[in-house]
Amino acid sequence: MARANNLPGFYVVIDGIIGCGKSAQRKQLEHYLPLNFPKNEIVFTYEPGGNPEADEIRQRLKHEKMSAEEEMNLFAKSRSITLPQIVKPALELGKIVVSDRSVTTSLAYQAFGREIGIEKVWQANEKAVNGILPDVIVYMNVGRDVCFKRSGGENPDKFDSEDVAFWDRTIKGYDEMLKFVKRISPNTHNLIIYDPEGKLSIEETRLKVKEQLYPIIKHHYNDKS
Ligand code: TYD
Repeated sequence: MARANNLPGFYVVIDGIIGCGKSAQRKQLEHYLPLNFPKNEIVFTYEPGGNPEADEIRQRLKHEKMSAEEEMNLFAKSRSITLPQIVKPALELGKIVVSDRSVTTSLAYQAFGREIGIEKVWQANEKAVNGILPDVIVYMNVGRDVCFKRSGGENPDKFDSEDVAFWDRTIKGYDEMLKFVKRISPNTHNLIIYDPEGKLSIEETRLKVKEQLYPIIKHHYNDKS
């Protein structure tokens, strides 16, 4: 099968707006993926951040006031550090990489939430991404009001205090991002968990992710053996 990034590993990105239940699903994957893929090495990472240098950038991004452009460039800077240091080497060795957020978030939050525009955000990131696009994007498409209720947990950041209009733009941005990534990387799978009223439990969502994600991963590794 033709690949999104042409590396032997498998790159899964999990994404969605604040309060969508992404972190809960990441924890489920951390627990269940190793049980279901015992022969594969699995690396879990996140953006922004992932190593000490990028984690410093993460703290700035979460708490410092800055212009939209500066913010866009700092997110790109974080990935210019961690993609070549963490994600690419793991994919080259055939590992499964699961990342909490990626350039896909910038293509929704910065492009639409901050109204920079998707082409400009892509241009700012293309060099940092350097062809490392996800094999699967797990997008948690959960209704805005549900997400709002669940957000603002222990460590609120500057995004927590954005207004409704920002989130509506960003939600629209996710749909645009999925179309955009399909265009630049036709082999990327979009795995969308659609839960407008937040009715799905963590377990129900986990099973939906499992049903759709595991066969794609299996198919990828069987194709190569
Ligand atoms: P994080 O604690 O990971 O947020 P969450 O719990 O919502 O996943 O903090 C990252 C914040 O940075 C989050 O609010 C989303 C935002 N972000 C962007 O705006 N653009 C990006 O490219 C990335 C990776 C994150």
